[in-house]
Amino acid sequence: MPRVTSLPALDARALTQAFGPLTVLHGVSLNVMPGEVVAVTGPSGSGKSTLLHLLGGLDTPQSGEVWWAGERVDTLGTQVRAERRAAQVGLVFQHHYLLEDLNVLDNVLVPCRLSGRGDAAHARTLLAQVGLAGREETFPGVLSGGERQRVAVARALAARPAVVLADEPTGSLDRANAQAVAELLVNLARQEGAGVLLVTHDDRLTRYADRSLHLLDGRFTDEAPDFR
Ligand SMILES: Nc1ncnc2c1ncn2[C@@H]1O[C@H](COP(=O)(O)OP(=O)(O)OP(=O)(O)O)[C@@H](O)[C@H]1O
Ligand SMILES: [Mg+2]
Repeated sequence: MPRVTSLPALDARALTQAFGPLTVLHGVSLNVMPGEVVAVTGPSGSGKSTLLHLLGGLDTPQSGEVWWAGERVDTLGTQVRAERRAAQVGLVFQHHYLLEDLNVLDNVLVPCRLSGRGDAAHARTLLAQVGLAGREETFPGVLSGGERQRVAVARALAARPAVVLADEPTGSLDRANAQAVAELLVNLARQEGAGVLLVTHDDRLTRYADRSLHLLDGRFTDEAPDFR
């Protein structure tokens, strides 16, 4: 069942982040509603991955706030935040960190086992929706790059997260596979009522988004610069 709520899935308020003398984010705010897909573009080094790490609670901001589905999470302890993340956030990265010792189905079930949410039937349905029915018992080592990334998409959605964060999710794929994976991610997340933040360099992927935000030197800009 999709989530039914009018609270933002993801709400970030005035995030700043610095590494030593280098300030990477200068008060970045955004929110993503359930079922909404927002793309973040920007040149290399503009702070996209830094922002995504804060939004996913993998790191905490120097100042500002991060909220998932109405709960502030940047102030939680590491352990509690990790538990909330397992339940509320699905992550897809360029290099789809699958666990090589687990088969496809067990990889998809990892966030379910961590959070107690979702179940094997839903995981199998998601695998079928990403075109991997019948491959549940296969180990990741024999899958193609596109198949691995489709497992990562199913895994990101398995625990029915409020938020899906994707950092160059198709960066290691060829064009046809990249579009197929992006389309699956966006369609499945919308169907599940998750809010999606998609970081990409690829103009062809931003057309799957309801809105695009452009990061330049750690701030959102109004105009869309040409990055090529
Ligand atoms: N842990 C860290 N320690 C020091 N500097 C960092 C750290 N993480 C990121 N940076 C710096 O912050 C800046 C932004 O990095 P970030 O990875 O967020 O960029 P990006 O927009 O994701 O770039 P790309 O498109 O190349 O992935 C870079 O100058 C980077 O060197
Ligand atoms: Mg990056």
